[in-house]
Amino acid sequence: MPTDAASLALGKDLVGLETLSPAQLRFILDTAEPFKEVSERAIKKVPALRGKTIVNLFFEASTRTRISFEFAEKRLSADTVNVATQGSSVSKGETLVDTARNLEAMRIDMVVIRHGSSGAAKFLGDRIASNVINAGDGKHEHPTQALLDLLTLRDKFGRIEGLKVAICGDILHSRVARSNIWGLTKLGAEVGVCGPPSLLPRDIEELGVTILPRIEDAIAWADALNVLRLQLERMQAGFIPSLREYNRVFGVTRDRLARAPKDLVILHPGPMNRGVEIDSDVADGEHSVILPQVTNGVAVRMAVLYLLAGGTGAVAAAARGEAA
Ligand code: CP
Repeated sequence: MPTDAASLALGKDLVGLETLSPAQLRFILDTAEPFKEVSERAIKKVPALRGKTIVNLFFEASTRTRISFEFAEKRLSADTVNVATQGSSVSKGETLVDTARNLEAMRIDMVVIRHGSSGAAKFLGDRIASNVINAGDGKHEHPTQALLDLLTLRDKFGRIEGLKVAICGDILHSRVARSNIWGLTKLGAEVGVCGPPSLLPRDIEELGVTILPRIEDAIAWADALNVLRLQLERMQAGFIPSLREYNRVFGVTRDRLARAPKDLVILHPGPMNRGVEIDSDVADGEHSVILPQVTNGVAVRMAVLYLLAGGTGAVAAAARGEAA
């Protein structure tokens, strides 16, 4: 069915995948495709966001998301500034909105925000004129992570529809799980979740997923496993008996995968706890797409920045360095 440009427009902000349509999700993934090639060039730059000023506001630690947003912005020729809690007046008690309004007074165009509180990205987007992109808010959503996971699955299988994807590990604390569930189900994949009952949200089946109680069930059922980190920093004591016990019961190990009816594609958003939720020989094995996920993160973030900044469908032209 043809889709008109207005229904594909993402609006001012990207807060999560819950509110996006399947056509919008496909549009972002298709927009990312020509941007992949920009990162393979000797001169990794196109002028699509020349003159735009983007602030990366990271109130929580990040390696992949922060650096790939910064690369994406620079490869689109935007001017970028990074702000972290330490070294900014946030550490003196300045509020999120005051911080953002002061940045806006310096005439910025977009804010990329990571924050420990669920809802922080929407809260900010509702209060400032600049575009806001959620780079992970508490336990709520991490939309660009799910988009890069979707792109990586699509690269590997040639489709999302009909795939069986098991999300394994600490679902309770995971914004990656929530965004993946929205994205995968909207694009027609079947989603299973697997983890200790203490790390599964009580209402998780209402999101249209199947609970796979044992890791062996997930491995027998799935085409791909998205293995999640135990978020020890968000846990009070008592969720699991010990890390060793977690690995013994729920760890994705080579021996367990060897008993699968087919080769499973292995994803992990990082950072990994090697020897806890995933063993090194799986993470570094031939069916792992963990580093291709990171590579795709730059293209997906270029696509999101480009579209929110008002880029049109003429993405191939933008990737060639022509005005869109
Ligand atoms: N996947 C992810 O969000 O990693 P970082 O915390 O390093 O950004």
